[in-house]
Amino acid sequence: MLTRRIFLSGTAGLAGAGALASLGWRSSSARAGEGLPARPPGAIGVKHELTFTAAEREARLLGPSGPVSRVWTYTDQPFGVTRIRLGDSLRAQLVNTLPEHTSMHWHGVRVPNGQDGVQYLTQPPVNPGETFTYEFTPPDTGTFFFHPHCNETGQIGRGLAGILIVEGDEQEPSHADIVLANKDWRLAENGSWLPFHTNEGASRAGTFGTVRAVNGVQEFSRDVPAHGDVRLRILNLDSSRTIEVGVEGADAYVIATDGNPIDPFPLHSWKLGTAMRLDVLVRAPKAGRSFKVIDYFSAEPWTLATLKSVDSNLKQRPFRPKPLYASRVPRADLKTAERKTFAFSAATGASGFVQAMAQDDPLSKVMLDALCVQDATFWAINKASWPNAGHRNLPPPLAMLEAGKSYVFELMNATPHPHPIHLHGHMFEVLSASRSDLPRFLADTVLLHPKERIEIAFVAAPGDWMFHCHILEHLEAGMMGYVRVV
Ligand code: C2O
Ligand code: CU
Repeated sequence: MLTRRIFLSGTAGLAGAGALASLGWRSSSARAGEGLPARPPGAIGVKHELTFTAAEREARLLGPSGPVSRVWTYTDQPFGVTRIRLGDSLRAQLVNTLPEHTSMHWHGVRVPNGQDGVQYLTQPPVNPGETFTYEFTPPDTGTFFFHPHCNETGQIGRGLAGILIVEGDEQEPSHADIVLANKDWRLAENGSWLPFHTNEGASRAGTFGTVRAVNGVQEFSRDVPAHGDVRLRILNLDSSRTIEVGVEGADAYVIATDGNPIDPFPLHSWKLGTAMRLDVLVRAPKAGRSFKVIDYFSAEPWTLATLKSVDSNLKQRPFRPKPLYASRVPRADLKTAERKTFAFSAATGASGFVQAMAQDDPLSKVMLDALCVQDATFWAINKASWPNAGHRNLPPPLAMLEAGKSYVFELMNATPHPHPIHLHGHMFEVLSASRSDLPRFLADTVLLHPKERIEIAFVAAPGDWMFHCHILEHLEAGMMGYVRVV
C-alpha cells in the first residue's frame, strides 16, 4: 500500500493533487451531478435494427502468431461496440447458435423489466437455435455493456459481452473517443480454456485469468491527436479482477461514473470493481509523446493502454474540461426514503436455496448438461443464498418495494473480500462509504470493501430486479437475489 502511494504521488498524482485539494471534492456533500447543464432538446431518434449472433468464433488471443482460441461473441470480435444517440431506439435480435441457453442483459440501461434479459426472472432462456428480440429506448447517455445472465463465468469468460454507448452527453465534442475494456483471458498455453469456475476462487476473491488483456489484446495502443481532448471509456468487464485506474503522462479528469455525468474532477486514481465503468477526459500531450492508462491495484502497476500523440492541427491551450450534460436519472427524496439493510456474507449452509430437480423435468437435461450447475454455495445476501443451480427456482424476493418510492439501501460487507454490488434497472446515488473517501456519484454497481458500509439511494422502478455481486463466481455461488417493485 505504502509503495503504491509513493508511486502515485511521485508520478500520476502530481498534476492532480493540488487541484484536488483546492476543489475540495473529498469533503463535498453536494448531490451527485448537481449543477450540470441541462441537455438541449435533441433531434428525433433513429431506429436501430441490429442482430447479435451469439456464436463460437475463432480468435488468436495469445497474439497474431499464437494458437487459435474458440471465443463466444455476439459480433465478429469480442466486445464489439454499438454506438447510438440519446433518443434512438434499439431493436436487437439475439440469435443463439451456442450449444447452451443464453440471454442479453443490458447492464446499467434503465430498460423496462421485460427487456432486462435475465433467464427465468424476466424472460425464458433463449435456447440453442432460438432468437429473442429486445426493444427499448435507452433513457440515459453513457457507457454501458451487455452480457448473458446464466453460466456467467463460462459465457462471459469466453468473451460473450458487448459494449453499448449512448452518445449525446458532450457539450463540446472530444477529439477522440476510445473504449478500453479490461478483461483477462483464462487460457492454457495451447489456447484452450482453463476452468472458469473453481471452488478455491468462488469461495475467495474469484478465479483470475492467466493473460491480461484490454479490448481482447495483450498490449493495447492507439494514436491520438496531439493536444486533443481524448475521451476514454474504461470498462471493467473482468469476471473477478478489481482495477484501480490512473493516467500517467497527461492531465485527466473524471467526467462520468457508470456512464453518469459528474462534475469533472482530476483523476487521481479510481477503483473499478467488475462491471464498473469510468469515463475520463485526457488532454493529449504534444506530438511524439505518449500517455498511459495504468492499473495500480495489481501487485505491480500494470499498463492497460498506451496512447501516443500524433501531429494534429490543434494548438496547446488550457485544459478545463466542460461537464457533460446532466443525467436524467430520478433522484431519491432522502427525507422520505425508506431504509433497508443488506448484509453480504458467507453462506451459513442451511439457508441455501437449492432444490433438487425432478428427473422428468423437461429442463433438467439442459440444466444438467451445461448450465446453471454451480451448486456450491459459498455466499449469501441477508443470509439467503441463491446459487445458479437454483436459478430456475425463484426464491422469495430479498425485499418488496413500492414503485416510484425513494429508498436508501445500506449495504454491509461481512466478508474479507470486496464485492461489486449491482442493482438492475436503476441508477443509484452513492451517498456514503465508510471506508472510501469519495464524492457522491451515480452508479449501477458499487464496490463494497471488506467490512465496509455503503449507503445508496434511488427511486424504485417497477419489476423484478436482480441484486447481486458482480464477481461472477460469487453470484454463481449464492450472492444473488432480486427485489420486487410493485
Ligand atoms: Cu452485469 Cu446482473 O449484471
Ligand atoms: Cu462478491
